[in-house]
Amino acid sequence: MAKKPRLLLLILLAAFAQVHAQNKIDTSARIDALIKKMTLQEKVNMIHSSSSFTSGGVPRLGIPEMVTSDGPHGVRPEHGRDWELDNNSLDSGTYLPVGVCLAATWNPRLGYEYGKVLGSEANYRGKDVILGPGINIIRTPLNGRNFEYQSEDPYLVSKMVVGYIRGVQDQGISACVKHYAANNQEAKRFTVNVEMSERALREIYLPGFKAAVQIGGANTLMSSYNKFRGQWASQNNYLLNQILKKEWGFKGLVMSDWDAVHSTMQALWNGMDLEMGTDLHMLPNPDYTKFFLGDTVVSLVNAGRFPEYLLDDKVRRILYVMYKTKMIDGTRKKGAYNTKAHQQTAHKVAEEGIVLLKNQNNLLPLNKEKTRTIAVIGLNAQRKQSMGGGSSQVRAFYEVTPLEGLQRNGGNIRINYAQGYNIARDAKADASLIRQAVDAASKADVVVYVGGTTHGYNYSVWKDNAYDAEDTDKPNMLLPFGQDELLQAVLKANPKTVVVLMGGGAVDMQQWINQAPAILQAWYPGLEGGNALAKIIFGDINPSGKLPMTFPKQLEDHGSHKLGEYPGDKDTANVHYMDDIYVGYRYYDTYKVEPQFAFGHGLSYTIFQYSNLKVTGSKGKATVSFTIRNNGKVAGAEVAQVYVSQASSALPRPEKELKGFEKVFLRPGEHKTISISLDEDAFKYFNDVKNAWVMEPGIFRIGVGGSSRDIKLKGEVRL
Ligand code: GLC
Repeated sequence: MAKKPRLLLLILLAAFAQVHAQNKIDTSARIDALIKKMTLQEKVNMIHSSSSFTSGGVPRLGIPEMVTSDGPHGVRPEHGRDWELDNNSLDSGTYLPVGVCLAATWNPRLGYEYGKVLGSEANYRGKDVILGPGINIIRTPLNGRNFEYQSEDPYLVSKMVVGYIRGVQDQGISACVKHYAANNQEAKRFTVNVEMSERALREIYLPGFKAAVQIGGANTLMSSYNKFRGQWASQNNYLLNQILKKEWGFKGLVMSDWDAVHSTMQALWNGMDLEMGTDLHMLPNPDYTKFFLGDTVVSLVNAGRFPEYLLDDKVRRILYVMYKTKMIDGTRKKGAYNTKAHQQTAHKVAEEGIVLLKNQNNLLPLNKEKTRTIAVIGLNAQRKQSMGGGSSQVRAFYEVTPLEGLQRNGGNIRINYAQGYNIARDAKADASLIRQAVDAASKADVVVYVGGTTHGYNYSVWKDNAYDAEDTDKPNMLLPFGQDELLQAVLKANPKTVVVLMGGGAVDMQQWINQAPAILQAWYPGLEGGNALAKIIFGDINPSGKLPMTFPKQLEDHGSHKLGEYPGDKDTANVHYMDDIYVGYRYYDTYKVEPQFAFGHGLSYTIFQYSNLKVTGSKGKATVSFTIRNNGKVAGAEVAQVYVSQASSALPRPEKELKGFEKVFLRPGEHKTISISLDEDAFKYFNDVKNAWVMEPGIFRIGVGGSSRDIKLKGEVRL
């Protein structure tokens, strides 16, 4: 670059940095000035709820209440200032695909678009904080809230969470990363005490939160209900003061989950900044000043039992978030609601997140010209899911069900529907419904079966939990409502059956999987889900989703149940994560257990060829490059995954660990050379004997492929 422009660029950069630094000084100076003006009572008013979803402001000083709203995949229907769901309000928004569907796209850029929709709609609805993303590690297939989360693998979580947070926060809204930490089951969620090694904590359960804070720049976190090593997560000195604030340098605020604080002094001293929630015994018309962080704090400070400067730190963090979200000054960009663009993003996430698990003899995609009749079987084909699941419920502006999607996108194909099964508590196989389904199947060219699990039984009833819902875990991995019997009968009546599974994760498929030629995992794919699913079935879209968690053949095979405790001691509150770092594929691959479908697995309608692996490395870093080519007849996207394993290490390590990936879109015949750099973090592990991350020199094996069990290229590097 010529001398002059470069000089100009340097001057501009310096000026920008100066302004940016000045802004920071301005903000913290202004925050300090505000705090100086506040009375003790006003400070205390800010550190607890002022209604079901707001926290206190200081009108006298122009400090507004902070308005929060669920949830991770859409703005929840209005609750006003109490818990009464406002069924009169016409508010209905963009119901995005659930978190696990977003993770299955393995597309961080889409994560940003997803967050952008959420932030824009929260902003439009007058919210300051959206209570998402939920990123707890998927440790067991039974966890009721897996649908809201992302993955069993911390690296995939840490890549997907960053885009989401930035997308939300670029709209001037704060994200709220939850639930910090180790909230990996809903069973006994209010009482369970999680015990795990420091290594499991550092290598598996914290990286997503660390990336959210240090790379995503999350403004707020929500602590979880459970205890961690004997101390409530909402008043946990190690998690909140030591790790989050001291080690990670977190500047924002930690709010509690609703009613998750249990003691005033522990919450005050151990890093809780904002107590949220309405203690249920205080309903109706709760007196918010009676919270643990309510007016009692005024008397504690006045009595010299809690130093005011520590109270000031909490207020400072809350004001910091208010400045970041332009609640005190500055103007936020306008929000938008139910726009076409938002709906298209939801569609995109669904089409890239639905996973083609099996496609024997290329039954899929269906040929619209040659297919005259399709029998659509299964109640999930026309079930609206958006209002289920618990606090993540969304009143969808509309919801295209799989049946509607097939009807809209099926051209002249005749579509007959048979309900197949009932959704009700303890519902069993229904002989007459099976007869109708078999009849429809036998008369059709092809069957599209839509089953799987569901959030609840009756969505108009809050907490009507069933399988994929808050506050409940699944009883097992079996398909409910007698679906195994139904599916066997349908497959017998018509072997050309496409099985579509809705839900938050793996189910036991052993009774019919060998007879099923094609299987799609559709998760809960949002308000455009039916269209995206149909377009995949008819080949208008080429699927590119990859499993963000291992699908076991049966629950007994799963590492956390084999090596660890779940749901924990029956006579104490403890659950010991003896599965340790061997979560998900880390267990299956190290202990040589065959899964039903591997972590990272997902098929396409085209074929990708990998070649030309080169691995170079020095000083603890490496570069992995390879060529990937679309050898088929249709355009498609492949998620090329890079796994690392250490040949020999002082402490045992998993057989392989995901340390890089890239989603590549290729036209037929097109090829690209991908280069993925691996920094030191890709090779380190946490040695909890030395209590430090260690990089041990030696040989590291590199595997590249389209899934953790489909490694196409192998190499190694000495570091
Ligand atoms: C719930 C959930 C949390 C939600 C909060 C507010 O109990 O655990 O995810 O954001 O309370 O509804």
